[in-house]
Amino acid sequence: MSQTAKFLKDYRAPEYLIERVDLCFDVFDGHTAVTAVMRVLPQTGAGAMRLHGSAELLGISVDGRRLPESAYRLANEVLTLDGTPAQPFELTVQTKLYPHDNTTLMGLYQSGGNLYTQCEPEGFRKITFHPDRPDVMSIYTTEIRADKARFPVLLANGNRTDGGDLPNGRHFAVWHDPFAKPSYLFALVAGDLSCTRDSFRAADGREIAIEFYTRAADADKVAFAVQSLKHAMKWDESRFGLVYDLDIYMVVAVGDFNMGAMENKGLNIFNTKYVLADARTATDADFDGVESVIAHEYFHNWTGNRVTCRDWFQLSLKEGLTVFRDQEFSADRNSRAVRRIHNAAFLRRHQFPEDAGPMAHPIRPASYVEMNNFYTMTVYEKGAEVVRMYHTLLGEDGFQKGMKLYFQRHDGQAVTCDDFRAAMADANGVDLSQFALWYSQAGTPVLDVSGSLRDNGDYVLRVRQTVPPTPDMVEKQPMMMPLKTALLDENGDAVRFRLPENGADTAETVLLLTEAEQEFVLQGVNRAVTPSLLRGFSAPVRLNFPYTDQQLALLLAHDDDPFARWEAGQTLYRRAVAANETALADNAPLPDHAALFAALEHVVRADIDPAFKAVLLTPPAEEELWRASDIDPVRLHHAREALLDALARHFAEDWLPLNLQAKTAEEALPDCYAYSPEAAAWRSLRNLCRSMMLRAAPAEQLEYVFEHYDEMAQNMSHEWGLLNAVNHIDDPRRDALLARFAEKFADQALVLDKYFALIACSRRADTPQCVREALSHPAFAPTNPNKVRALLGTFARNHLHLHAADGAGYRFIAERVRETDVLNPQTAADLVRAAFSLCCRLEPHRRALMKSELEKLAALPELSKDTREIVEKILA
Ligand code: ARG
Ligand code: ZN
Repeated sequence: MSQTAKFLKDYRAPEYLIERVDLCFDVFDGHTAVTAVMRVLPQTGAGAMRLHGSAELLGISVDGRRLPESAYRLANEVLTLDGTPAQPFELTVQTKLYPHDNTTLMGLYQSGGNLYTQCEPEGFRKITFHPDRPDVMSIYTTEIRADKARFPVLLANGNRTDGGDLPNGRHFAVWHDPFAKPSYLFALVAGDLSCTRDSFRAADGREIAIEFYTRAADADKVAFAVQSLKHAMKWDESRFGLVYDLDIYMVVAVGDFNMGAMENKGLNIFNTKYVLADARTATDADFDGVESVIAHEYFHNWTGNRVTCRDWFQLSLKEGLTVFRDQEFSADRNSRAVRRIHNAAFLRRHQFPEDAGPMAHPIRPASYVEMNNFYTMTVYEKGAEVVRMYHTLLGEDGFQKGMKLYFQRHDGQAVTCDDFRAAMADANGVDLSQFALWYSQAGTPVLDVSGSLRDNGDYVLRVRQTVPPTPDMVEKQPMMMPLKTALLDENGDAVRFRLPENGADTAETVLLLTEAEQEFVLQGVNRAVTPSLLRGFSAPVRLNFPYTDQQLALLLAHDDDPFARWEAGQTLYRRAVAANETALADNAPLPDHAALFAALEHVVRADIDPAFKAVLLTPPAEEELWRASDIDPVRLHHAREALLDALARHFAEDWLPLNLQAKTAEEALPDCYAYSPEAAAWRSLRNLCRSMMLRAAPAEQLEYVFEHYDEMAQNMSHEWGLLNAVNHIDDPRRDALLARFAEKFADQALVLDKYFALIACSRRADTPQCVREALSHPAFAPTNPNKVRALLGTFARNHLHLHAADGAGYRFIAERVRETDVLNPQTAADLVRAAFSLCCRLEPHRRALMKSELEKLAALPELSKDTREIVEKILA
């Protein structure tokens, strides 16, 4: 029962362009009436006009004449019009929408009494009938009419050009967007919202009005987001020379939202999670998330809106590039080194499993059934790594030249990833044709590297490159990628060498991989060295080198590249967890990890950035440690936990002094409990120490935290750290702390998400029961994606309990998927992906249990196409 897929190879240029779209929304209590008047430009040789739409259709007119029903056919949400003129004409479509019944949160929907839209990728067709494809770009004018008391705020894209009162207590507003845009960037908001105003003086001297809209009760939490926007505007001017183009920039926060945020032209709509933040309710990580998502959506104005995608297969054109830009923004704002490590760890934890599973796809997918399923870690995060490789290969200047040419050639156009690659290549006079493989080959490349010193003093690196088979493709070709490399001597000092190509003497080089097997000669080395490889995580690959534990300890102590230094530690942790796993499987005593702990002595005592210290003391996540097949996630969980317990005990004497040192440093900062990157760095170390202290002496520490909670919980970062540390302890005091937390923040939806996440991530034996009970907590709502993600999404990543040997975890999630799918297919599909993607890599017993739940889902005739696509891919 496979579904109809769309293929990249089938792309055809649009037969009908639309020059202008004039929309009128008449908002009433039970429904909204929409009139769309479109100026249609038939292209030569155009066949019958086909429009997408799923709204209730009230009528269609061509050049003002109403079409009889015999003149059009509506089947499978495609409207075919016969006999429309070959010359430009005016098409009028009338539809009727029911936003209060729309739980999909796509198209026009209601949340907390207000109206919002989400159109990317294919939500505009839920509003009216339209080609609804990104290469059809039009000038939009939007009129909104509604009751003035209930909907005092009426917003759409562009500039407000008119407005005023209407009879019967109603009013109206007209918005005009002078930039041609695809339908997915259309937005409308109507409701009772409070507005926070600011402004930004652009590089060209214009004063840009900034307006943030929230519920009145949330207005005191937008200041940080407003500042973040201004930083982002400034940064895009100084680093990329890109200036904002409208006179107003609006951001609206809504609690019911499928994703993080949406870059609608001039009117961004955001999940509250990425707008609202104050120290009482948001952690440092939340502040960071706000800053980067605000920046991300702002950066889309050029990379996404001014130059958009020809079709949805090209999504990474805007998303990979914009994630790269937001990563660079964050890195320029603060602690580039630690951010790079976080990016790499995030990719390995979340994207590598996708690349190794049933959903594997290249950053430019070749086909899709439901486009919403392709807003993936691969398109976004691996896409950003691909963009970063251009940057590594071409340098900042070369990259900026490429960006300039890209905008020169394509401003105002809908283009492809090949156009971007061509701009990079042409601006720099280099051949990047082989680089195209990154857009068509899925799977994480593996580099097997070895090195040896020749008698003549040259050091030779041999690199073998393989790209593993994925469900979509078996045979792969070698790809072009940068391998940033240096050499360390036995004291950990950098060793200089010469490059044979040009004789240049250097301590670091970027080797260019292009072949399945390659040899690189680094001349004049003349001593035993340890190579420092993949510096800065210069390519999104797995790299193997036969390091001894001593060599890894040397790199961990001395490598001047923070990523490579961290990676050496990660490799030692991986070896230690693997040894634990073997011991657990054999019922043998656990190893003592002497080599790892000896190497970590250095780290514990090093005088380094506290955030860097915290990541060096954190082993890889479970998802990074899964082997290729026959996974027992519960055994792996115990193997990793046992390592953390041993680590906590080994340094038992160190955590308290380290915590005190961090506390003193934190408290010496001005306004220390507010968010700042410096304070956040100290707090990340403090929270690591706390969790280690809790592990080393749970009873005593719980007692202490319970007694001193209020004075220790100085802000949400501290509170979150404390609760996470005690969250796994089977003791009524833990329950009391969580209950108090929920009560204290009963009116804070985003904090209640944290409460649900705490319940769902606990290692305690009663977690499955507690999660089930939380479903009937008054604050839980199956229609709210944030709540579903917090409770069920978190449980789906709790490998200890999800993978319970009796299959109860799988059954529980499958039941929730069924319920969620009826309300919100996207959220349900995400839950399936999170919980069940590992299926074919599991050991046989669990694989069979998981498969049977998936088969039951697949057998449901009413399953949404979103969820079905994922279920069927996993079962294939
Ligand atoms: N373009 C948005 C962003 O990155 C994501 C919107 C995706 N929405 C969706 N319903 N799939 O920033
Ligand atoms: Zn984006």
